[in-house]
Amino acid sequence: MAIQQLKFFLCLIASIVIYIIIITTLRAPGTNKSVPKPWGPPRICPVHFSEQTITPLNNTKHLLVSAYMDQRVNGLDIRIIGIFRRDSIQPLHCFFCCVDHLSRTRTPATILQHSDNFGFSFVTTDVMCQIPQYCKATHVTLLPQSEKVFAPEQIWLPIRNQKTNGKEKKKLQFNFTVCISNLFGDYNNVLQFAQTLEMYRLLGVDRVVIYNTSCGPDLSRLLQSYSQEGFVEMVPWPIDQHLNPSRGWLHSEHGGDLHYFGQLTTLNECIYRSMDRSRYVLLNDIDEIIMPYQHNGLMPLMNMLEQQHPNTGVFFIENHIFPKHQFEPSKKFDLPQWKGVNGINILEHIYREEPQRNIYHPHKMIVQPRLVEQTSVHDVLKNFGQRYKVPQQVCRIIHVRVALQGSLKLEQLHEDKRLWDFHKKLIPNVDKALKRVGLLNSEMKSS
Ligand SMILES: *[C@@H]1O[C@H](CO)[C@@H](O)[C@H](O)[C@H]1NC(C)=O
Ligand SMILES: *[C@@H]1O[C@H](CO)[C@@H](O)[C@H](O)[C@H]1NC(C)=O
Ligand SMILES: *[C@@H]1O[C@H](CO)[C@@H](O)[C@H](O)[C@H]1NC(C)=O
Repeated sequence: MAIQQLKFFLCLIASIVIYIIIITTLRAPGTNKSVPKPWGPPRICPVHFSEQTITPLNNTKHLLVSAYMDQRVNGLDIRIIGIFRRDSIQPLHCFFCCVDHLSRTRTPATILQHSDNFGFSFVTTDVMCQIPQYCKATHVTLLPQSEKVFAPEQIWLPIRNQKTNGKEKKKLQFNFTVCISNLFGDYNNVLQFAQTLEMYRLLGVDRVVIYNTSCGPDLSRLLQSYSQEGFVEMVPWPIDQHLNPSRGWLHSEHGGDLHYFGQLTTLNECIYRSMDRSRYVLLNDIDEIIMPYQHNGLMPLMNMLEQQHPNTGVFFIENHIFPKHQFEPSKKFDLPQWKGVNGINILEHIYREEPQRNIYHPHKMIVQPRLVEQTSVHDVLKNFGQRYKVPQQVCRIIHVRVALQGSLKLEQLHEDKRLWDFHKKLIPNVDKALKRVGLLNSEMKSS
C-alpha cells in the first residue's frame, strides 16, 4: 500500500517537472533551439522589443523610428516611420504580434518615400500595412519579402496611438505642442532658450518636444530641469551613431547621408506622437516664437482662425528676422542677473527686417495633427482639409538671429516691441528657471 502510494507520488512529481520544462521552453522563444518551420516562427510573441528611438532594420540599410496606428488611409492600419536608403529599397512584409501570440499572416507593406530628400541618399519613409483579421496588434516588425523566417533577435516596435474601440472621443491632454527638431553640436544658447520656453508657456503651450543629438552643458542642465517638471519632453536622437548626418539642408552643398540631422523625420515623428493628445502642433525652430499680435495667447488666436477658416488643418505663419547685432538703445532689459548667462537676450532686439516677398520667403506652421499625413519644414507634403496663410498683422514669427539682409540700416528696420508686452511675467519666470539650475548671476539677485 505505502509503496504504491509512493510510486503514485513520484509519478505525479515527474509529470509536474516535465510539464514545467515544456511550458518554460515554449515561453522563452529566445532560448528555443528548435528549427523554425517554414511559416512557423514560434507562435508566442518574441521578447526583443525596441527601447531605442532609432532601430536598424536587420538585413537592410534602413532605420526604423516608430510605429503608429493610423487608419485614415483606406485599407491601411499601421504607419511605420523610418529612414530608408533610397537606392536599396526592396519589397517588405509586416509581421504582427497580437497581444500574446504571433499572427501567422503577414501583410505586404506599402513603402512611401517622402518627396523632400534634397539629394541625400537617406530619406524619411512611411511603411504602411494592414493588420490581419482577428489580430489585436501590439507590436510590428518588417522583413524583406525574400526571407521566410526571422532571426530570434529580430527587433519589434510597439504600436502607439492604439485605438480603443468605442471610446475614441478621448479628451485631448494638450492644446498646444511645440515640436523642436534636432539639437546638435554644442549649442549652448541658454538665455534665448529659457526666454523662448517661458514665452511659449505664457502663450498657452502645454508641451515642448525636443529631439536631442547633443547640446552644450548649460543647456543640457536647463533642459533636464524642464523635463523633470514635465513641460519639456526630451527624445534621445543618436542619429550620428547610425549615419553621417548633414549639418546643412542641401546634399550638393553640404554633403552627408541625411538632411540636417534627420529634421524631416523628427518633425513627422512629433506630429504622430502628438496626434492623439494635442489639439495643435507648432512646427518651428528653437529660436523662433510664433506670436499672436492681436490676441493675448494662441488659444484665442486659433479660436478666431478656426471660426473664419473651418476645415483648415494647416496655418502658415510668416517668419520675421530680428537681427541680433541691433540693440535697443535704452538698455532697460539688459538685466544684471543675466550677466554671464550664455546666449542672446531677445528682449534687447526690437528691430525687424521687412521680408523680401519678391524672393522666396519661408513660413513655419501651426497644424492640426489629425489633418496631416506627411510634413516638411516649411510646408506639409500630404494633408487633409484646407491650408491658410495667416496675415502678418494677426500672427508672425519673432526670430532673433544673424541678420538675413545684413546691409539694411537701422532706419530701414521696423521697431517691434511685441515681446515687451509680456515682460512683467516673462522676466521673473526666466529668472526662476535659471535659478533652479544655478545659472542666474547670484551676486545680482533679482528681488
Ligand atoms: C541580423 O540577422 C542575422 C542573421 O540573419 C543575425 O545573425 C544577426 O544577429 C541579426 N542582428 C540583429 C541585430 O538582429
Ligand atoms: C485648453 O484650452 C481650453 C480653452 O481655452 C482650456 O479651458 C483648457 O484648460 C486648456 N487645456 C490645457 C491642457 O491647457
Ligand atoms: C542630450 O544628448 C547628449 C548626448 O547624448 C546627452 O549627453 C545629454 O545629457 C542630453 N541632454 C538632455 C537634456 O537630455
